[in-house]
Amino acid sequence: MRKHIVAPSVLAADFTRLAEEIEMVNNSEADWFHLDVMDGRFVPNITFGMFIVEAIGKMARKPLDVHLMIVEPEKYIEAFRKAGAHVITVHAEACPHLHRTVHKIRETGAMAGVALNPHTPVQVLENIIEDIDLVCLMSVNPGFGGQKFIYNSLPKTRKLREMIDAANSRALIEIDGGVGMQNAESLLQAGADVLVAGSSVFGAGDPPATIRALKAFQPVFDF
Ligand code: DX5
Ligand code: ZN
Repeated sequence: MRKHIVAPSVLAADFTRLAEEIEMVNNSEADWFHLDVMDGRFVPNITFGMFIVEAIGKMARKPLDVHLMIVEPEKYIEAFRKAGAHVITVHAEACPHLHRTVHKIRETGAMAGVALNPHTPVQVLENIIEDIDLVCLMSVNPGFGGQKFIYNSLPKTRKLREMIDAANSRALIEIDGGVGMQNAESLLQAGADVLVAGSSVFGAGDPPATIRALKAFQPVFDF
């Protein structure tokens, strides 16, 4: 049976207690760490770069899923790989030569992800879907945690699932933004493989229990 991945987004963690927060994820049922890199250019916010990714990687006992919300991401692929990234996701909107960039990521040995903003149709990936390991559908406008889930992301997930299955691609579908207990099941039923959850996990009274609950949902379809 297809089992989904839960990736807590460290952006919502308490950075004054980062070591404890990482340890909480290490000891939970979570699968990956989701790390949001923002440059103040592609998105209107600045977070952290490879220095912090590397520091988190030293403590993390689970793969690092690095989401690059930056312009010219191709310049930094090797640096993030060296910093410990297992998945490197770039935005289609930031890559005029997406095919080249995706292959550059794969050459480093990392999984290659492509993220789409809410307004970007899944069809832009039609001719590259077989080269991608993960598609990250942004279900909020990237830049900040704690925003409201954009409902259209559900039919968009279904459409992407159809495209991936028709192409026999192994790309995972990741949903990022406003994901929590209220929509996790519908997203899995629509074909999601990876649930990114920031504020719904770190803002919960009992984060490990919330992670466990997000993991416990079952998709309707068996593959
Ligand atoms: C938004 C980031 C998300 C964010 C999700 O730009 O890419 O990963 O941290 O946070 P929540 O789950 O709080 O919407
Ligand atoms: Zn993200």
